[in-house]
Amino acid sequence: MAQRPRTFKFEGITMSHYFTDNWEKVKNFKAKPDDVVIATYPKAGTTWMCEILDQLYFGEMRKEGSLSPLYERVPFLEVCIEELSKGTDQIESLTTSPRLIKTHLPVQLVPQSFWEQNCRMIYVARNPKDSMVSYYHFERMNKIQPDPGAWEEYIHKFNTGELVFGSWYDHVQGWWDKSKSYSRIHYVFFEDMKEDAAREISRLCSFLGLSPAETQKQEVLRKTGFDEMKKNFADEISKIKIFDESISPFMRKGAVGDWKNHFTAAQNEAFDEEYRKKMKNSDLKFRMEI
Ligand code: A3P
Repeated sequence: MAQRPRTFKFEGITMSHYFTDNWEKVKNFKAKPDDVVIATYPKAGTTWMCEILDQLYFGEMRKEGSLSPLYERVPFLEVCIEELSKGTDQIESLTTSPRLIKTHLPVQLVPQSFWEQNCRMIYVARNPKDSMVSYYHFERMNKIQPDPGAWEEYIHKFNTGELVFGSWYDHVQGWWDKSKSYSRIHYVFFEDMKEDAAREISRLCSFLGLSPAETQKQEVLRKTGFDEMKKNFADEISKIKIFDESISPFMRKGAVGDWKNHFTAAQNEAFDEEYRKKMKNSDLKFRMEI
């Protein structure tokens, strides 16, 4: 049974062994030109985006109530835990195309082949305060993540890049900067998806070169709404042994601004100060509320 890991620096990034044990295969992974990569810093709405993409490409062939688990439909490239097949093996066993591939890797660690094959990539970014709150609760309930410790200490670890997958600041800015030179990255904000999911799905379709009928688009919207996904994923998530939903649900709130229920006024002020310093040279802007 998986144990809570210690963290270490891997290529300069805080990692746990669950995401580096299969590194040779990850690094040398052979991408196909039509692979679609969904990249995020953890808790940015990865599952939501994966489900939207799976529904857009394969919704019509998936029968309601008989979906295979999302981690099989959209494998997690770098994951390597006893309870699941290795991410790379799962991707290689996919028979549908395009292959949809999830990763939390910072942009500089993405295997070379994805760039060489000119693959499309979708990056979802979420404001740091909600990302942090979501990650904190996720680490409480997920036994393959380090113990998050106390909230105050957690804010510090977030700001110093000590959480698994490293610094949120470096991650979101790294992908943002790359999107300026590599046009096949579509950069999406969680807050925009919450504000107007239909608009964001239309933008996504333009990027992917898809033109679903209006009825199909409406169906994708319906199936990927928070309440619908929470209901449809309940069974799948309850079978994932590394999760303990009695501590915190995986599909928790799906909201923008829940950070206000966690940060004290003093923590918020200190965080804003730190955020301003770290983002001062960036043209990347986040909305902490909508
Ligand atoms: P909260 O913990 O704030 O509720 P990831 O998939 O990257 O792990 O992100 C998980 C976060 O996305 C969780 O946030 C989860 O509730 C939220 N989420 C998942 N599906 C969603 C949906 N359909 N609509 C809105 N939020 C969603």
